[in-house]
Amino acid sequence: MLTQTELKQNVADAAVEYILPLLRPDVVLGVGTGSTVDLFIDALAPYKNRLRGAVSSSERSTARLEAQGIQVFDLNQVQGMPVYVDGADEIDHGLNMIKGGGGALTREKIVASVADQFLCIVDESKLVQCLGGFPLPVEVIPMAREAVARRLARLGGKPVLRAGFVTDNACQILDVAGLAIARPTELESVINGIPGVVSCGLFAHAGADVVLISTQDGVRRLDK
Ligand code: A5P
Repeated sequence: MLTQTELKQNVADAAVEYILPLLRPDVVLGVGTGSTVDLFIDALAPYKNRLRGAVSSSERSTARLEAQGIQVFDLNQVQGMPVYVDGADEIDHGLNMIKGGGGALTREKIVASVADQFLCIVDESKLVQCLGGFPLPVEVIPMAREAVARRLARLGGKPVLRAGFVTDNACQILDVAGLAIARPTELESVINGIPGVVSCGLFAHAGADVVLISTQDGVRRLDK
């Protein structure tokens, strides 16, 4: 029986195999955030001379990339990227995701939007029939926090401030439990439209293009 860490290691290794054909000396990769991505960064390190560098979605991943000798570029310095690699907190069979458990959702969404494809790397515990079991992270401007929380409650959720946590954008996170998300695209639009919301952790308008899922029987691939 593989542990969850071993499952994450296997999918991180599979992600490196996936991206190897895309590497060239002028290529910059998009890199997400989280424990699975940490393992991906480490697995990528032996190939660092085959790429130009990376754009990172968080201070956490930037530190890890730089520690591995992979150059990190500001997104404004980069025209585009062939692939963005990131984990997810939940993913459904339509490849819609909940992200932001690590609090990096806004930068993740920005970097992912610039990439030609989103490669999602998860262990099988993340695959669900319906999104919403994992509380939905919503990044908010601090002065709007209570107003946004009231609007989210009216949508049927139970927003809780992530105590003691400040995002890389100097904002706060409301984790919204109790949403059974039948229509992820519509809900993403509704939440993004609330004044004071920076972004929400639903990735449905732009979900994953390819998912690698680590199981006890090996790594499976799902395509959009
Ligand atoms: C970070 O903000 C999240 O979006 C991560 O992608 C997500 O939490 C997955 O993290 P793990 O790989 O640690 O499960």
